[in-house]
Amino acid sequence: MEKNKLNLMVKSIGIKKLKTAIFISGNGSNMKNLIRFSKIKNSPIVVDFVLSNNKKANGITHVKKNKINFKIFDFKQRDNDEKKILDILKKRKIQLICLAGFMKILSRNFIKKFKGKILNIHPSLLPKYKGLNTHERVILNNEKFSGCTVHIVNARLDSGKIILQKQVRINKKDNPETLSKKILKQEHILYPKALKKMFSKF
Ligand code: GAR
Repeated sequence: MEKNKLNLMVKSIGIKKLKTAIFISGNGSNMKNLIRFSKIKNSPIVVDFVLSNNKKANGITHVKKNKINFKIFDFKQRDNDEKKILDILKKRKIQLICLAGFMKILSRNFIKKFKGKILNIHPSLLPKYKGLNTHERVILNNEKFSGCTVHIVNARLDSGKIILQKQVRINKKDNPETLSKKILKQEHILYPKALKKMFSKF
């Protein structure tokens, strides 16, 4: 769904902040950052639900502390899990899904049900370096720059419309770990900025 249509929809049902679900797989630093951002007065989102495909995800402790509803689905039976997830999202009237380090691929059918309403953050300057092990590949290719991208999720991996990107310079001494840290820092600025850009009326 386009920004304007989503804006209109939210306006027409009189909800000030978009009811948002965050999907994570691991550390959850982007999720923590989005939860923090959601509490700011002019934030366009309220975090209502968190899903993790990994019961050991570090982020879960933070979710519990913040008394946010969460569920674990391991995605071993993706179709089954997605059906249950869609039911939960419908019941909770979720309007927006933010993928934040979510390492599973959602089905075409799932994405269709939330068309234009799923955002993702990816640690590269898309369309370069889609998929996994981004930092390793960037360093191997002796790139001078990398960065991060917030984009709308469509059925093709890391290929949806780009909302915002931030470039990061790579130093000769950088390795995948140092680069990942540098980029993550920028991700924490970029994701809220992208949400504000998309839903600035709220
Ligand atoms: C982030 O760098 C995010 O961009 C990346 O995983 C990391 C998660 O960190 N996501 C992807 O690679 C998605 N394909 P976090 O769990 O601390 O937010």
